Amino acid sequence: MSNALKEYLDFCQTRVEAALEERLPSEKVLPQKLHRAMRYSVLNGGKRMRPMLTYSTGVALGIAPELLDGPACAVEFIHVYSLIHDDLPAMDDDDLRRGKPTCHVAFDEATAILAGDALQALAFEVLAHDPSINASAEARLKMITALTRASGSQGMVGGQAIDLESVGTQLTLPELENMHIHKTGALIRASVNMATLAKADIDPVVATKLDHYAKCIGLSFQVQDDILDEESDTATLGKTQGKDKDNNKPTYPALLGLAGAKQKALELHEHAVESLSIFGSEADLLRDLSLYIIQRNH
Ligand code: IPE
Ligand code: IPE
Ligand code: MG
Ligand code: MG
Ligand code: MG
Repeated sequence: MSNALKEYLDFCQTRVEAALEERLPSEKVLPQKLHRAMRYSVLNGGKRMRPMLTYSTGVALGIAPELLDGPACAVEFIHVYSLIHDDLPAMDDDDLRRGKPTCHVAFDEATAILAGDALQALAFEVLAHDPSINASAEARLKMITALTRASGSQGMVGGQAIDLESVGTQLTLPELENMHIHKTGALIRASVNMATLAKADIDPVVATKLDHYAKCIGLSFQVQDDILDEESDTATLGKTQGKDKDNNKPTYPALLGLAGAKQKALELHEHAVESLSIFGSEADLLRDLSLYIIQRNH
């Protein structure tokens, strides 16, 4: 990881931790158990890659981080909701997440379902109302539309449905790519697009280039997640290593082998960086992030 990226990552992490904490209901507010479960699942040391992408796209576009706290929190709330539900017994049945017992293990299944539901609602409340978003009502509506599409049946939830239907089957490469683009790529793409939508006078060519960048890294992110499931270890990952094989999931390493999957991740990184060729050094964080995504060890 470059020093510039490390510094900015630390800055964003501190910033987004405070912003998330501030927007979550207090544990003192009823229903307390539900609020405890929401806070437990959000404030527990995630990498915050999606907020980082929102802020870093802001750097490329000259948008101050204060104006992006709302969208950054909204994408992270959706992401955490997706993780809580992904870990449920009816889905991947995982008991470890971010190095701690998963929400349904620490609380109970019903609470985990409700905590996910409530985080999803909170994400959209933030986009609709958060005072930090200094954008027109039209821009807010565009952000809400982008995040609902990225989250719903033609986005993340659709990808999760394909994932579950595909257990034990052999997907073709285009089918696997389609699944990954939806289950993980859509939300990562939305994280970048939240910042482009925050810029009132954005050049459509710039927006298209950033969207293409986001599409590439959205896929490479899940390719690397599949690789790590195969070759990392539980302590480093903070989630159970080898789960994909245990659950008979179609993955990039299963289809292409580890070397093939790594080659695919590298190609996606190269495409992502090419999409940024119209930018100067203001997009260096985005370039570094793309590399980090395929080199990370957790
Ligand atoms: C894990 O996402 C689930 C996927 C979509 C691949 P992250 O690797 O971003 O998980 P956290 O947020 O750091 O825990
Ligand atoms: C999860 O993919 C994608 C979403 C949560 C939408 P995985 O099932 O591979 O994620 P991990 O490996 O459990 O984090
Ligand atoms: Mg899953
Ligand atoms: Mg999973
Ligand atoms: Mg995985």
